[in-house]
Amino acid sequence: MKILVVDNAQAGGQKAFQMIEEAMEHGAKVLGLATGSTPIALYQAMTESAVNFSEMTSVNLDEYVGLSGEDSQSYRHFMEEQLFSKKPFKETFVPNGKAENIKAECTRYDEVIAAHPVDVQILGIGRNGHIGFNEPDTSFASKTHQVQLTDSTIEANTRFFEKEEDVPTQAISMGIASIMAGKEIILMAYGKDKAEAIRATVQGPVTEDVPASVLQNHPHVTVILDADAASLLTQK
Ligand code: PGA
Repeated sequence: MKILVVDNAQAGGQKAFQMIEEAMEHGAKVLGLATGSTPIALYQAMTESAVNFSEMTSVNLDEYVGLSGEDSQSYRHFMEEQLFSKKPFKETFVPNGKAENIKAECTRYDEVIAAHPVDVQILGIGRNGHIGFNEPDTSFASKTHQVQLTDSTIEANTRFFEKEEDVPTQAISMGIASIMAGKEIILMAYGKDKAEAIRATVQGPVTEDVPASVLQNHPHVTVILDADAASLLTQK
């Protein structure tokens, strides 16, 4: 893993954007995208740039079960607001949280991923080490699946909702095997809250207890951190 420590989220977003641009110059056509506060600076860098994404396809990591794409709390809505409405893509995929049959939707989404192999996968990380909504103990072999969110994830997400009762408790998430299939992976993390998850991811054992630790097995991962998120790493 390559570790880059940057001044702040803005600098991290710029760095991730440069890496995406380079990948596009080398033929990348599919971006794996993430929601949450972490990638916002990257999406800002993308929307403020002159780069044309109209030949690019995006595949998002996850969506809440029970929310339609029009719901202002849905991840589809987040992506439209932050990026797609400002920088049109050729095609954008986000799981359908309102699908009648969630299992069938997971299968459909695996087909989407297979048809659009991800060139550059963007990731944030949860305080418990989750990537996408793959909570601790998710199998490293997992494909797209329905997940029960942990209490810590629900609590962390409450800040986006009026009341904790409004936070969905289930989601559809790309699996860990699907994430690992990305050719290149960029994980960003900022703030002290993420320091322990980053230590366990980068310097702990590779274990399903810490989903992001699987990234140690991937040949092309860059981890972009601010000093707080990097604060528990020991020099090697
Ligand atoms: P955050 O979420 O970017 O809002 O911190 C990251 C995550 O939980 O994956």
